[in-house]
Amino acid sequence: MSAQSQERRKTVRDIAKAKGGDPLVCLTAYDAPMAALLDPHVDLLLVGDSVGMVVHGLPSTVGVTLDMMILHGQAVMRGSKQAFVVVDMPFGSYETNSDQAFLNAARVMKETGCHAVKIESGSYAAQQIGHLVARGIPVMGHVGLRPQAINVDGGFRAKGRTEEEWSGVLEEAIAADEAGAFAIVVEGVAPELAEQITKAVKCPTIGIGASEACDGQILVTDDLLGVSDWVPRFVRKYANLRGVVSEAAQAYAKDVRARAFPGAEEKYKLTKPGAKRS
Ligand code: KIV
Repeated sequence: MSAQSQERRKTVRDIAKAKGGDPLVCLTAYDAPMAALLDPHVDLLLVGDSVGMVVHGLPSTVGVTLDMMILHGQAVMRGSKQAFVVVDMPFGSYETNSDQAFLNAARVMKETGCHAVKIESGSYAAQQIGHLVARGIPVMGHVGLRPQAINVDGGFRAKGRTEEEWSGVLEEAIAADEAGAFAIVVEGVAPELAEQITKAVKCPTIGIGASEACDGQILVTDDLLGVSDWVPRFVRKYANLRGVVSEAAQAYAKDVRARAFPGAEEKYKLTKPGAKRS
């Protein structure tokens, strides 16, 4: 493969045709340097509204604004070259009606240059999904545990505990698929439900806490890297950056206090203009 073809941006067609094939590799990204590091390894980067909790210290994603999503979306687009980039529509930016959803999603697409948006819903926003897709905006759905709905759910709870909840999640996924979503995030459900959804929909499912039955996987990057102080049980930590950062900060503090930093190599070799060099 030539360098040029390696850097071809993935398109919505590449994502959609992965249904039933090799698993899609997806991660969240919120800034340019991290997007650049992740980009060669993933099919899709999601600028998730989890940015509100992970980066901005908010208690939930409910407080995330469209401006925040746009700022982080722009950074991720600058840092990435080949991944398909999806930006989350935050709480309150699409629920009212299709016009509201289109105006806000169009702003996200124009101002970030991203390739698609994610709407955290299936059935209740199916109309909005169809409206956006018909007007040129690819949409990813999101069903199961929906962090934007924690205030009605009473917290971050896995979904599908009752018959009613199980069939509700399945219906949500089918509604998103039928409305034209190119992929659906399935979060926090039993493996059997993830399998049932994956079989029932035409588009690929991207699981997070939803088993390997899905057509792909996504994790919050800070969880996988071991930056987050608490992670849900479905996360596998591939690194312990908390430890690395803490050790580095401790070593730096020790050196500064001992006047051992900066050393000879860490100073400019300039002298006062006109002064003789020794
Ligand atoms: O906001 C987010 O990061 C997400 C993923 C966890 C799927 O929606």
